[in-house]
Amino acid sequence: MRIDIITVVPDILKSPFEASILKRSIEKNIVEVHVHNLRDYTDLSYNQVDDYQFGGGAGMVLMIEPIDKCITALKKERDYDEVIYMTPDGVTLNQKIANSLSLLNNIIILCGHYKGVDQRVRDLFITKEISIGDYVLSGGELGAAVLCDTIIRLIPGVLSNETSALTDTFQDNLLAPPVYTRPAEYKGTKVPDVLLSGNFPKIEEWREDEAYKRTERLRPDLLE
Ligand code: ADE
Repeated sequence: MRIDIITVVPDILKSPFEASILKRSIEKNIVEVHVHNLRDYTDLSYNQVDDYQFGGGAGMVLMIEPIDKCITALKKERDYDEVIYMTPDGVTLNQKIANSLSLLNNIIILCGHYKGVDQRVRDLFITKEISIGDYVLSGGELGAAVLCDTIIRLIPGVLSNETSALTDTFQDNLLAPPVYTRPAEYKGTKVPDVLLSGNFPKIEEWREDEAYKRTERLRPDLLE
């Protein structure tokens, strides 16, 4: 998979891809992530990419021309399955959306900033608008990093044990069951006996039970 991210603050998107699972997925050539600075696509002085909104009102709006230039240059090189705009008024990201995006080959992610982008960008270029939750971030960059993480970890070969993404919380609309590691007893608190029993069908049954109970207690809406 290839992901092209368009942003006015490329620095925010450095460290998420320079550590841990995302770093390794890039090193293993399973995914390519290219971050494009929108300021490289403007001819205006001071590398201007935003302007005041027509009709008045506070806040700057990203202009259509540099975004058009950047997206058009990318599309000349290859076909894209989706051009995603990160925005608080998009559809809220969930596991189902991440699952379907993880099957794609090439995507562009456009990060908004300030008051957002000229509406014509959304009308002409954007195929999907995604929010990471009902709160407002300073820009779409952190949302883009979250989106990339949810997608990339699902691509076969990224996690060393592929089944571990399948047993994630939300994959079957259930929260994950509790997990324990050594020591089996710590300051009087014990790991449930069943997990030490070696009886794998029983362990599986216990985990399913606990996942259901936890979901019922913490997220009953998922069971509806
Ligand atoms: N940009 C600003 N707020 C956002 C949010 N909640 N999700 C995605 N992009 C955003």
